[in-house]
Amino acid sequence: MKILVATVKPFAPAAINKIKSIVEDKGYEFLLLEKYETNDQLLDAVKDVDALIVRSDKITNEVLNAANNLKIVVRAGAGYDNVDLDSARAKDVVVMNTPGQNSNAVSELALGMMVYLARNKFQAKAGTELKDKKIGIHAYGNVGQNVARIAKGFGMDVFAYDPFVANESIEDDGVGAIDTVEELYGSCDYISLHIPANKHTINSINYDLLKNLPKGGTLVNTARKEVIDEEGLLKLMAERDDIKYISDIPPDRREDFERKFKDRVFFTPKKMGAQTMEANINAGVAAAKQIIRFLEEGDITFKVN
Ligand code: 3PG
Repeated sequence: MKILVATVKPFAPAAINKIKSIVEDKGYEFLLLEKYETNDQLLDAVKDVDALIVRSDKITNEVLNAANNLKIVVRAGAGYDNVDLDSARAKDVVVMNTPGQNSNAVSELALGMMVYLARNKFQAKAGTELKDKKIGIHAYGNVGQNVARIAKGFGMDVFAYDPFVANESIEDDGVGAIDTVEELYGSCDYISLHIPANKHTINSINYDLLKNLPKGGTLVNTARKEVIDEEGLLKLMAERDDIKYISDIPPDRREDFERKFKDRVFFTPKKMGAQTMEANINAGVAAAKQIIRFLEEGDITFKVN
């Protein structure tokens, strides 16, 4: 059995070492394709592998077609919008994610970017503090819960909206449960976004929703760029000089945002919320173990297709 790790954005070496020994200890062959530049390299590498570990790498119908022996793809991370689930299902390929494994890293970066912009990107001009500000968490999953934990440490007032989570379990964490998304956006100084990208959410963070933000409102996006209606946000930021936007996923219209609203936006150069050694180890090791449990015991916990 051959298990391939294929990532444009490489895991930390410590994570690769651990994945490799988990795979080889079980007598399987470990293969590695990192920082590949063309889809052809991926098509070639998957040719005779049985299992695949990826990050945000695009696993299209074409890739799945090229992988004749493939039985399982594990997306080492949370969001699996990069994998063609229908095509995988049609080919009897199991797709899994590794929920929760990188969520602390993403949450720390969300708060870190908030401090950075609140302090005017560390320029001399007086900034503001997070203490006593309201943060609204849009979707209370693994990352949202970690953001809540850290935000409380900053002394923020923490609220969350999630139609899929019972209000009682949000309130059990000492977080105010908000019943409508409009109310969340209308009442919080910071909105931290943690929704997945799917047909229901793409472009859903639009002008009509964002216009509810109170004066000085800041949108923090460590989810997916596709959920933002960039035209709508550009329009709102042109109309209101108090609105700010922070993301670790550079928007498609990055140049427009930076040229027009230089001091009110911050984007990391590449998507990097989950890019810590710890998150790489947690997600990579979980992926390797899930593959082995699947191959040896047929365990399909964490299957998403
Ligand atoms: C995720 O969905 O787990 C995060 O967005 C991290 O993505 P990455 O593995 O490409 O950094």
